[in-house]
Amino acid sequence: MGIRFGGDYNPEQWPQEVWAEDLKLMKAAHVTMVTAGIFSWAKVEPRPGAYDFGWFDRVMDGLAGAGIEVCLATMTASPPPWLSRAHPEILPEGPDGQRRWPGGRQHYCPSSPVYREHAVRLVEQLADRYAGHPALALWHVGNEYGCHTRQCFCDVSAADFRRWLRERYETVDALNDAWSTAFWSQAYSDFAEVLPPRAAPTFPNPAQQLDYLRFGDDALRACYLAEKAVLDRRTPGVPVTTNLMPQHKPVDAFAWSTHMDVMALDFYQDPHEPDDHVRAGYAFDLMRSARSGQPWLLLEQAPGAVNWRPRNGPKPPGAMRLWSWQAVAQGADAVLYFQWRQSLGGAEKFHSAMLPHGGTRTRVHREVTALGAEFKALPDIAGTRSRADVALLADWHSWWALELDSKPSTALDHSRIALAHYRPLFEAGVACDVVPPDRELSGYRLVVVPNLYLLTARDATRLATYVRGGGRLVVSFFSGIVDEHDRVHPGGYPAPLRELLGLRVEEFWPLEAGSTVAVEGGPCAGRADLWSEAIDLEGAEALAHFTEGDLAGRPAVTRHAYGRGTVWYLGTRLEPGPLRALLDDVRAHAGVTPVLPDLPEGVQATVREADGGPHAPSRKYTFLLNHRTEAVDVALPRPLSDALAAATGAGSTAPTERITLPARGVAVLTAPEPAAETDEGAEGPASRG
Ligand code: GAL
Repeated sequence: MGIRFGGDYNPEQWPQEVWAEDLKLMKAAHVTMVTAGIFSWAKVEPRPGAYDFGWFDRVMDGLAGAGIEVCLATMTASPPPWLSRAHPEILPEGPDGQRRWPGGRQHYCPSSPVYREHAVRLVEQLADRYAGHPALALWHVGNEYGCHTRQCFCDVSAADFRRWLRERYETVDALNDAWSTAFWSQAYSDFAEVLPPRAAPTFPNPAQQLDYLRFGDDALRACYLAEKAVLDRRTPGVPVTTNLMPQHKPVDAFAWSTHMDVMALDFYQDPHEPDDHVRAGYAFDLMRSARSGQPWLLLEQAPGAVNWRPRNGPKPPGAMRLWSWQAVAQGADAVLYFQWRQSLGGAEKFHSAMLPHGGTRTRVHREVTALGAEFKALPDIAGTRSRADVALLADWHSWWALELDSKPSTALDHSRIALAHYRPLFEAGVACDVVPPDRELSGYRLVVVPNLYLLTARDATRLATYVRGGGRLVVSFFSGIVDEHDRVHPGGYPAPLRELLGLRVEEFWPLEAGSTVAVEGGPCAGRADLWSEAIDLEGAEALAHFTEGDLAGRPAVTRHAYGRGTVWYLGTRLEPGPLRALLDDVRAHAGVTPVLPDLPEGVQATVREADGGPHAPSRKYTFLLNHRTEAVDVALPRPLSDALAAATGAGSTAPTERITLPARGVAVLTAPEPAAETDEGAEGPASRG
């Protein structure tokens, strides 16, 4: 079927006369899949238990007739007004006890049995009605879990939390121990005394907050799983997914990934952010890595401007195409938008759509249609995969714990720190996976640990085993400090990593807002900000020292040979230049090279490939994406053809050793003869088998 192309389809916003035109224009725009029904609950169940699917049957039949696949939503993302009127207890409450009223969307408490029952009943109806329907290709459960209601603090949630805690800890003594309740007279004598961490006079218990974040994620996932169970039973074989959000704190994408048949992401680049494509790169790599390289779906993006930032810039010409191809280059097998036809009313009427208010004679619609034609021209990209020699570790539990209150510094922001470590790899053109700490690491030449404040003893041992076996590891400041209950590992910081790193951190020395400190030595001379630490060496060597401030003369960056491998430690956040220099040096050590040598700045290169098996030719695509706003020349290590230009008639198939990418240009390169494929040259290191 090739790369799926299309968007959210909300026909209930339009009279039926419009639907026929929708189908005609979708075909003309090369749409192959739509996500339908996301906000249709009130229309298909206008009164409790009274279902009206007739209109939706016509939508499904029309789409099937047009040969368009449906990613069918379970319609449970926005409960209808009658439900919250009959059962106001389904409405969520904030930590301050304030109720969130209906009138927007996602106004349900994730723990509410009433909400879940009604949702499941609707999903049973839907599944039975559309099982075997020719348009049904995929289920889309809920919508962006935790987007608006991240956590609920109501009494129903409190009771569910106590159930969750009983299952986890069994006895109240175990809970008291895990939560360090000897502190501030917080010891519980009965689970019945436990509440969510509601707004309190001062810092609520950190372990309680951490467990509440875990519980909140589990509660959202329980909603998803309740619906998925119905779908698995009633439409076996139809894959089930839900649209995750990038770097979305309430939802642990790794924990969800085992319950998703295919990963799916919504990503809204900000055209006003000059390098939002790096943030996208991180999110896309995480999506691809979450299910070990399985292709994922870009389920939503904006064709142009969004409506929900303070200032909503349109995507300049070529940007939407470039960023869509970026998703494909990083493993997506679908590019879908929010939404097909731009609404006339409601909160999203100024959000761009594939078919804008201005109709087909608009730049956005022309760009959408042209992109649809491009994906159609290269169907064999779908299903191919990428390989990476570098893994960056990410962990929601550590993120949750890191950003709780009462820390040496509240300026430690997980996403920014992760991105600071990802950026130099992305900019160097290195293929990178983003994986959780419990993933098998031995296949990677280099592992980067941006900041794992919370690290279990087990995961620390796994890191040590990886290095002992010959791995190269980079660990950044304030890692390995607490256990899974936010209790400091005893034995001096960072106790579970001390032997591996060959050092001890004597004292944390966070930097004042806006201040920087000079670091000198080895490849990383320059400045650092945010954080510093007083490091004592215990076997490691200092590669660089602080050269000013309170820690002048003490190590800032260290290296330690451990077993057959090497580990580097950064006791501060190096600014982008010195961090890039250090990581380039570490990569040289680890034998990690970019996808293409001599890649010009601002050009991204990735490879997707498939060996084809005994009956199909092998396929290998090298994607070149020019994120700059001027044309750039890229030298290729051997002659390759631009399959995209050739397939769309925009260029010749002649192999070339030099290609000019226009501003925001994209090329999809293939070797002229499959038989000529080798393991060297353009596809080089990233394709190592
Ligand atoms: C997403 C959501 C869509 C639409 C879109 C607008 O968060 O899933 O329904 O609201 O944002 O950007």
